[in-house]
Amino acid sequence: MSLQAIKFQSSPKVSLSILNQLQVPYQSKYLNIDSIAPFKDVTTFSGYEAIKGMYTRGAPAIMLVGCFAIVVEMDKVLNDDSFSHALNYDISNYENFKTRLLERIDELIQSRPTAVNLANGCNQIKSIIADSSITTTSDLYSRILSFSENLYKEDFQSNIDIGNNGLQYIIETLKAENFKGPFSVMTICNTGSLATSGHGTALGIIRHLNQYLSKETTEYPFYFEHTYPCETRPYNQGSRLTAYELQYEKIPFTLITDNMPSFLIDNLNRPENHQNQHILSTLSSNAPLRFIIVGSDRIVKNGDLANKIGTFQLSLISKLYDEIKFIGAAPITTIDYNTESGIDIKIEERPKDELTMVLGAKIENNKFAIDSKTGDVALERVRMAPLDIDVWNPSFDVTPHENIDCIVTEKSYITKDSNGEFHL
Ligand code: MRU
Repeated sequence: MSLQAIKFQSSPKVSLSILNQLQVPYQSKYLNIDSIAPFKDVTTFSGYEAIKGMYTRGAPAIMLVGCFAIVVEMDKVLNDDSFSHALNYDISNYENFKTRLLERIDELIQSRPTAVNLANGCNQIKSIIADSSITTTSDLYSRILSFSENLYKEDFQSNIDIGNNGLQYIIETLKAENFKGPFSVMTICNTGSLATSGHGTALGIIRHLNQYLSKETTEYPFYFEHTYPCETRPYNQGSRLTAYELQYEKIPFTLITDNMPSFLIDNLNRPENHQNQHILSTLSSNAPLRFIIVGSDRIVKNGDLANKIGTFQLSLISKLYDEIKFIGAAPITTIDYNTESGIDIKIEERPKDELTMVLGAKIENNKFAIDSKTGDVALERVRMAPLDIDVWNPSFDVTPHENIDCIVTEKSYITKDSNGEFHL
């Protein structure tokens, strides 16, 4: 059973809850979502707040929570007069109802700008709303419900297919190079079950490697041995979420900070340069690093890829080592066919205190301490920088397609043509 970020049901009662990822890995608690976006004191907790506040995160998960939040709000509006009235819906007039729903969806799309999946999902719902063959609120509700449920199922299947296609690319690459023995991989941010409907994209490929290409399972002269997840400052998705998922899946890994990759890689891949440093003896695996595998929040037409800040520098390091291939893994819902190149991707800037403050759990006797009042794990936010300083906190960066060797989607793995161009 993989970890579950999103729980949605349409019967007997419609409900949507999300794993509060602000509290992972300290505890697993789900929060109910009742609406698309906050509105006065009418709504309790909305999809917009869950996404913007990072309770749920990762491009595909954001899309799914957004679409299900639309379903939940529609259900409530159609069945609770006081709720619909307070939210300014006019359910007696279909055209007015649609206008208000579109306003709410447009607000939701603004919650996080870089990941295109949310906008792609919402825009598909907007085209259902524009479909003139649908003439009643209940038919519209049914269509949006089945669209969202299918999107969830398709996302899960896409992740499995991405895992298979990524595995194939890695096998073909190592076969072509006549590679033998163990290899390791590196990743950044969180791209696993918690960022998707389940399994994951980049982390899904790593799960496939562990399942089908480990020392015990390989049918080739090479095998996957180890993963290096980067901590992923400032929000620490790597240490809080990816490390948690890798541990849960029993995939061998060593957590590193974001400023360690070049030293680590040079030690692993050029040990002759580090003979006097004794570093390799302190690593749990000495397998050379052959693949850097990342997810994406938006891949544009030429293959430029927006992903968590720090991805670009990993791609630059990979270019210094001919043997390292840089892989971007994402479902088709992450491809933005309307944008030509990465220069036009809007990069989200996050609040400064996400960088200067850290939220952590108190430890007592090597266990997470429990807050005696709430019964929850006791969390505390601590400042890690002087007060009143200038801080810059872009959440994503863009990796140019020149630095990418392969883009893996659910359809196939795609490498560049002889002119260095991707055809997505
Ligand atoms: O800011 P986040 O945590 O939403 O960023 C997530 C990432 O950058 C992921 O790598 C990306 O969304 C791909 S998720 C499968």
